[in-house]
Amino acid sequence: MSSRSYNMERVSPFFAPNRILLGKGVAGQVGQEVRMLGGKKVLIVTDPGVVKVGLTAAIEEGLKAEGIPWGIYADVVPEPPARIIDEAAKIAREGNYDTVIGIGGGSSLDVAKGVAMMATHTGKALDYVGQNMFKERGLTKILIPTTAGTGSEATGVCVVTDEEENTKKSYYSHLLLPESALLDPLLTVSMPPSVTADTGMDALSHAVESFVSVNRTPHSEILSLEAIRLIAESMAVACLKGSELWARYNMLLASNLAGMAFTSGGLGASHGLAYPLGTEYHIPHGKSNAIMLPHVMRFNRVACPEQFAKIAVAMGQPIEGLPLYDAAEMACEAVEQLIETIGLSSRLPDYGVPDTDIPRLVECALKQSRFFVPNPRNLGEKEIRSIYEMAF
Ligand SMILES: [Fe+2]
Repeated sequence: MSSRSYNMERVSPFFAPNRILLGKGVAGQVGQEVRMLGGKKVLIVTDPGVVKVGLTAAIEEGLKAEGIPWGIYADVVPEPPARIIDEAAKIAREGNYDTVIGIGGGSSLDVAKGVAMMATHTGKALDYVGQNMFKERGLTKILIPTTAGTGSEATGVCVVTDEEENTKKSYYSHLLLPESALLDPLLTVSMPPSVTADTGMDALSHAVESFVSVNRTPHSEILSLEAIRLIAESMAVACLKGSELWARYNMLLASNLAGMAFTSGGLGASHGLAYPLGTEYHIPHGKSNAIMLPHVMRFNRVACPEQFAKIAVAMGQPIEGLPLYDAAEMACEAVEQLIETIGLSSRLPDYGVPDTDIPRLVECALKQSRFFVPNPRNLGEKEIRSIYEMAF
């Protein structure tokens, strides 16, 4: 990547957590981290699955060792409705908690971020949906991912379901970035292959979409491309031989890099077209992206073939001597190959979605138009329909 291609006239923002600690066993240091940040009482926000497999144990031990009292809210559900944030924020306010530790997958981390904010804001969580709606930093946030995909611990984004409108809504604010993110690969080892595959594809979508986004920045490009390289190198092993800690470590790092990349550089149409698969058919978020990503890439590749050629290289494809558009196509093929290797499908019929549902999908995707702004190619109703048709 030539640094000559950067636009010096444009002011490029970069957002990241205040502190990131990465390493085997680092979750055990959470007590010292709370102390260092001045916390006196902690609310752990998580889901029942994380508690059941014992992943909160290291956190509770760490808090106990430092003599820090804690409470636990473990009722987070996938595709979390906004009312969950209101419910847990009430507990945080009434219990005088000053620190929220989110531990789990993207849903738990997003809810934890929302709870930390709503504990100090009036009204309902849905009142603050949109760009920069929060007025203050909220409670201290420490985020500990147990999956390698959403990168939520590295983003100023939080996604909730508006149950009344049956659609996903997002919060965007640098205030949502945590004071501290603890990345411990040991916490991701128990992830079953299917969850590893789904969440890994979410990270790959973040990396690819931010790399071709029209809002990409010098920082985001560097992070996106390295995330793509790490994922291409490690995802198959993480899925097929999950006990390999190096692969778990690389995926956790990649997910984190991709999170920082998209919180600065934006996402694109793959996320926009994947969200309806979550709200309409309850297909997990990462799997929804695995379905849409190759088709959106193929649609987008003509708009910035040089970026796609770089993706192909990062994924180990031999592009020497190929015309640019053929090299760009290699990126799409590499992603398809990876999806097949990890046992996923990019065909909607494989998930029980009939082609008669295309109009319904198009209608839902049109509500996600915020994702089409940074997409390298414009999308209207016709283009959205054509991409969904590619998935049949
Ligand atoms: Fe995502």
